[in-house]
Amino acid sequence: MNPFKYGQVVFDEDFCPRPKLEKALKSHISSAQNVLLEGERRIGKTSLIYEIIRKMNKLRLLYIDILEVKTVDDFCRRIIKAIVSMEQKSGLIEKLFKSLAYLKPVMGIDPLTGTPTLSLDAAVRLKPDSIEGLMDLIHSAYKRKKLVVVFDEFQDILNVKEAPAALAILRSKIQFHTDIPYIFAESVRNRIDDIFNNPGSPFFKSAITIDVGSLDREIFGDFLQKKFLIGKRRVPQSLLDRIFEIAQDNPGDIQQLCGAVWEVTSYGNDIKDDIIPSALELVYSREYKGYEAALSQLTGQQLRCLIGLANLGGKSPLSSGFIKVTGINQPASIKRALNRLVQLKIIYKYQKEYKFINPFFRSWLIYKDF
Ligand SMILES: Nc1ncnc2c1ncn2[C@@H]1O[C@H](COP(=O)(O)OP(=O)(O)OP(=O)(O)O)[C@@H](O)[C@H]1O
Ligand SMILES: [Mg+2]
Repeated sequence: MNPFKYGQVVFDEDFCPRPKLEKALKSHISSAQNVLLEGERRIGKTSLIYEIIRKMNKLRLLYIDILEVKTVDDFCRRIIKAIVSMEQKSGLIEKLFKSLAYLKPVMGIDPLTGTPTLSLDAAVRLKPDSIEGLMDLIHSAYKRKKLVVVFDEFQDILNVKEAPAALAILRSKIQFHTDIPYIFAESVRNRIDDIFNNPGSPFFKSAITIDVGSLDREIFGDFLQKKFLIGKRRVPQSLLDRIFEIAQDNPGDIQQLCGAVWEVTSYGNDIKDDIIPSALELVYSREYKGYEAALSQLTGQQLRCLIGLANLGGKSPLSSGFIKVTGINQPASIKRALNRLVQLKIIYKYQKEYKFINPFFRSWLIYKDF
């Protein structure tokens, strides 16, 4: 079985240790210090949280994922869903039913597991005020048994029309939950800046920031080599270096490419660097339709700009070298093209550099020699 996991949360033996980060996060959780976990996509934020909670085995996790949340009603329902799922495990669902009576909950029984379930009447529309009651509910759940609250993809609360009111209510409650550790995880740096770094925001400086960066190459390299050895495959350091480079040190993408190397090799193989093209071709064969669909949305200028980024990197797209390669001679036009590519979620800007969200899309553009 392919031992490389990607596109999912990893923990336990699938989690490569991150000693410094684990220590820092653990200590903040122990002292009920609120934390903002920042980092690029697929860098391992959610996995880090799950692994730490697993290791601190006395703590319950109240995990609230607000990815793509669009309304306050949806936001509240996600909180309730998380509480229900947590309390189901501790068998306290009846208690919860009473506390939520004002929201007309419906009790049921899961036909598969026989455990009680709780759902809300779809006709009830939750408003920013409802957040207050839900935050009190979190506090009483904590009183019964200790927990850590995680708001994952927290930046998406800004999609909600009443975000300012929702944030103000959240903050007003959280500041009195001094014994509960809150973790806010966030993937897109410039947006979170609005919530935690803007003096006008109720969350201004309300959490300690931890930057989740790439994994240590040496530790991760050893981890990956051991995984290859499960199938008696030996990989040289030079091959790992090449994989790290192509995947731009992103652990999710590194695992994806290692998984492809595993698939194009066999038990007992001494793998050499020249395996990379066939591993990449396997990745492309699964993803090229997505790449083509992305390209079909682009104008000629946007496409030239993207190819320029693939070939020259995204550190200085307004330089004369870039202008020459793309043939777009108006910096304003390049800027417009870059903005559009960001909007289409093909590239993103991180620490003044434009990068491909999917590094394999980049290498495919180079491979195809557009
Ligand atoms: N510590 C780790 N050890 C091994 N692999 C890891 C580790 N952290 C992350 N990964 C790899 O990265 C992938 C993405 O991890 P995870 O979902 O935790 O990232 P994330 O930062 O929460 O991503 P997103 O922003 O998309 O939610 C995992 O499926 C796994 O392949
Ligand atoms: Mg995540």
